[in-house]
Amino acid sequence: MISAVHVLALFTSLALASPVELPHLAAPLFTRQDIQTPINASLPNVTIFATGGTIASQGSSNTQTVGYQVGLGVQQLVDAVPEILNISNIAGYQISNVDSGSINETISLKLAHLINVELAKPEITGVVITHGTDTLEETAFFLESTVNSTKPIIIVGAMRPATALSADGPLNLLQAVTLAASPAGMNRGTMITLNDRIGSAFYTTKNNANTLDTFFSTEAGQLGVFINQVPYFFFAPSEPVGRTVFNVSEVSDLAKVDILYAHQDMDPALFNASIAAGAEGIVYAGVGAGGLSRVASLAAETAYNATGIPMVASHRSSDGFVPSTEGAFTIASGFYNPQKARILLQLMLSLEYTETDIREVFAESYPLP
Ligand SMILES: *[C@@H]1O[C@H](CO)[C@@H](O)[C@H](O)[C@H]1NC(C)=O
Ligand SMILES: *[C@@H]1O[C@H](CO)[C@@H](O)[C@H](O)[C@H]1NC(C)=O
Ligand SMILES: *[C@@H]1O[C@H](CO)[C@@H](O)[C@H](O)[C@H]1NC(C)=O
Ligand SMILES: *[C@@H]1O[C@H](CO)[C@@H](O)[C@H](O)[C@H]1NC(C)=O
Ligand SMILES: *[C@@H]1O[C@H](CO)[C@@H](O)[C@H](O)[C@H]1NC(C)=O
Ligand SMILES: *[C@@H]1O[C@H](CO)[C@@H](O)[C@H](O)[C@H]1NC(C)=O
Ligand SMILES: *[C@@H]1O[C@H](CO)[C@@H](O)[C@H](O)[C@H]1NC(C)=O
Ligand SMILES: *[C@@H]1O[C@H](CO)[C@@H](O)[C@H](O)[C@H]1NC(C)=O
Repeated sequence: MISAVHVLALFTSLALASPVELPHLAAPLFTRQDIQTPINASLPNVTIFATGGTIASQGSSNTQTVGYQVGLGVQQLVDAVPEILNISNIAGYQISNVDSGSINETISLKLAHLINVELAKPEITGVVITHGTDTLEETAFFLESTVNSTKPIIIVGAMRPATALSADGPLNLLQAVTLAASPAGMNRGTMITLNDRIGSAFYTTKNNANTLDTFFSTEAGQLGVFINQVPYFFFAPSEPVGRTVFNVSEVSDLAKVDILYAHQDMDPALFNASIAAGAEGIVYAGVGAGGLSRVASLAAETAYNATGIPMVASHRSSDGFVPSTEGAFTIASGFYNPQKARILLQLMLSLEYTETDIREVFAESYPLP
């Protein structure tokens, strides 16, 4: 058996970017199909879209688990897990090769466009996206909101680089492909798989910056688990309440939406500064259930009155719910955390939704009697 480390040792010169240095990346956006494994017509067909991240990273030693380099390509990811080829034929596209802090709207829109096309092909059973974990939930929610298919869409990453002792990437990738190739993954939207767990892209969030057991949703829970690599779902297929799928086939860039973080003594000038820098919408991570200090709230309302820019109130606590208040200038985020509320607002502003429509879509995620 070829071990991940042996395969990876062959490709030590591909490093592109450090996971902690976000800007200044000149990595190209690729479009070509990079791999196609030999076709066994009795197997399902899964397409992998590789974007980079820790799952495609190497450290300088088997104990290094921070400060490593992104750089392995989709071919090396698949080569490291030959078991995959007994489950599925694989086509692979290298979309980018960056840490997930550098994933941007160009990459996420491109993924949505390509995945919609791929899943429309009758011979394709499902898709897998390999991604860094830091912003994985954002791309997952973006795909949940833009890919219109009953087929499985699985987004996967790793917390440890491929060179680490007990690297988690290879088994995570095997499980992701297993689920993408499985009828059990149908009609469940986009799912996040890491560490033996299957979560809904709508609710799952990264909870710990470092540990393997980081992706889960405290309120909505997990959809399922892998038992001996077989996906086991706790519930029959279902869709999150309030999920909206947007048609982005004509969208080539997204509206600029900023997230502001509320805290004691929050600078009220941040709202104006954000708008001056071009924000078309603002989400703030409020204290408690969408709160702001009196001074900050007054600045936000003044800015809203002057510009009409939608302001979404979310929560800085890792989980929770922001209810709507009658007559408030803010739009309550409901169960959406700030980063998911931002994506939802970006999509609606890009598709020229009115403020009334925007309020309605946010409210659909928490239908109250
Ligand atoms: C997103 O990143 C890619 C690859 O690094 C780059 O080609 C593209 O121009 C970036 N897009 C934006 C909007 O910054
Ligand atoms: C093709 O896949 C089937 C089903 O897993 C398997 O039985 C068969 O041996 C495979 N054929 C080849 C040539 O690998
Ligand atoms: C996989 O793709 C091959 C080649 O297009 C096709 O013959 C085969 O039927 C596909 N497998 C499934 C399960 O659809
Ligand atoms: C693939 O399946 C065959 C037949 O069951 C088995 O002999 C082989 O070891 C498997 N390959 C891997 C890499 O698991
Ligand atoms: C999604 O697909 C269904 C069935 O093909 C179609 O009726 C619906 O209009 C599509 N929605 C979007 C937003 O593309
Ligand atoms: C999405 O929008 C495009 C362009 O407006 C249109 O051609 C296509 O039919 C739409 N798709 C669906 C599923 O409604
Ligand atoms: C924001 O800008 C408006 C209009 O220029 C101004 O009246 C207001 O004082 C500014 N607010 C803050 C908090 O700087
Ligand atoms: C914003 O406009 C509303 C409606 O006209 C008004 O009631 C409110 O006092 C204004 N708020 C501020 C801070 O100017």
